[in-house]
Amino acid sequence: MSEKIHVMISEEDVQERIRQMGGIISKDYEGRQIHLICVLKGGVFFTCELAKRITVPVSFDFMSVSSYGNETSSSGVVKIVKDLDESIENKDVLVVEDIIDSGRTLSYLMENLKSRKPKSLRLCTLLDKPERRVKEVQVDYTGFEIPDEFVVGYGLDYAQKYRNLPYIGAVELDG
Ligand code: IMP
Ligand code: MG
Repeated sequence: MSEKIHVMISEEDVQERIRQMGGIISKDYEGRQIHLICVLKGGVFFTCELAKRITVPVSFDFMSVSSYGNETSSSGVVKIVKDLDESIENKDVLVVEDIIDSGRTLSYLMENLKSRKPKSLRLCTLLDKPERRVKEVQVDYTGFEIPDEFVVGYGLDYAQKYRNLPYIGAVELDG
């Protein structure tokens, strides 16, 4: 089986939107420090680009959770593969994710993080597929709402490929 990739959101549009989001977040957190939690691996590119557009002080930590049984469909089982290095107690935590799909991963993760007593806890995602939601999640900052299509690029993968594309592409399967 092979696949074709069509540009859904251009590199310019992604970058412009991240610049805007950085501006909004910097205003919202004025006078505070943001502890960014990057959800690996998909959140890496967005976290870096967003962090460069944030003007208040930022610290980072990384977490890896897995919820996918295969390439394109959710198993509903969420497992912490790599936990945070530092405590988030009393910190202003902003979780940065590539995409919210069914919402299973993030609803689990946000509940888990909430129990660790951060001063505040918000969620930022580059992409959101609201049509696919199974579990409710409160999203504080969204880059783009997209239709129910499987996408790659900017950190998102199809079978671990295409994470490095500088734009968001829709995957068309054939063969
Ligand atoms: P959820 O638990 O169904 O919301 O899934 C969230 C995770 O599934 C994301 O962090 C991605 O890793 C993955 N995912 C969901 N939709 C896509 C997609 O269209 N392309 C690539 N990965 C996706
Ligand atoms: Mg992810």
